[in-house]
Amino acid sequence: MEIQGSNGIFVGGASGMCRATAQRFADRGGNVLILDLEKSDGQQVAADMGAKYLPCNVMDFEGMETVIADAVNALGSVQFMLNTAGGAVAQRTLQRDGTRHSLDDFRRIIDLNLIGSFNVNAIIAEHMARNEPNEEGERGVMINTASIAAFEGQIGQVAYTAAKGGIAAMTLTMARDLGTLGIRCMTIAPSLFETGLTERIPDEMAQQLTKDAAFPKRMGKPDEFAAMAIAIFECAMMNGSTIRVDGGQRFAPR
Ligand SMILES: NC(=O)c1ccc[n+]([C@@H]2O[C@H](COP(=O)([O-])OP(=O)(O)OC[C@H]3O[C@@H](n4cnc5c(N)ncnc54)[C@H](O)[C@@H]3O)[C@@H](O)[C@H]2O)c1
Repeated sequence: MEIQGSNGIFVGGASGMCRATAQRFADRGGNVLILDLEKSDGQQVAADMGAKYLPCNVMDFEGMETVIADAVNALGSVQFMLNTAGGAVAQRTLQRDGTRHSLDDFRRIIDLNLIGSFNVNAIIAEHMARNEPNEEGERGVMINTASIAAFEGQIGQVAYTAAKGGIAAMTLTMARDLGTLGIRCMTIAPSLFETGLTERIPDEMAQQLTKDAAFPKRMGKPDEFAAMAIAIFECAMMNGSTIRVDGGQRFAPR
């Protein structure tokens, strides 16, 4: 789809990879609306790129329906949606002291990453279904964010891996579900990227964590994620897949 004149909703757009993608989308003539937590920098970030902002919490599953309706009303329609809202917990299935992984923590990570993504996708799809298709028959593109931990989770990432693996697994099925409507669904699985989520990782640890990459052996930059997300939006053949953006890295067990 063409960015010029298209409308995009960027969930998690106040920071990191989603912010960088929103910026690229705006720079190419797209209209941007950022959704992010009330406590985020969303208001300022949106103002800086001439975009709109509305507060949201993807874990408020019912509330997201109203927020997204307000966002679509503010833009007029929606052709692009990127969601990076997510997070992890570090806990083993059985801890060293023998206690089990907290079920509440496991469920929270599934809710935040997997249910949150599915809910946003389903609501956005409802709005995209009302778009007039372009000459290719396309009505919109939705991109979710997994992680390479979806495929080779490290020790202590069992909840995160289950959640991100679920996002990767649902991508093709959702693309099939929505194919007749001309709505494409893709997932990006990054390795370690320099974002708000990782800013507290010391340089030495970052080097250690990226040493198994083929090339480059470094953390990714938000704008490199943005380049992939924008390419997906523009290329009608990109559908139903999870793309690793990882410098050829495969996580070791620890
Ligand atoms: N940075 C990495 O190394 C890395 C690697 C693999 C996957 N990821 C995935 O990327 C996503 C994080 O993106 P980032 O790395 O650009 O981090 P980031 O912290 O810079 O940006 C994430 C944004 O999401 C927002 N957010 C968090 N929880 C939210 C919620 N409940 N509702 C609405 N917004 C919420 C935050 O306020 C923040 O602005 C997560 O899904 C994470 O699992 C990150």
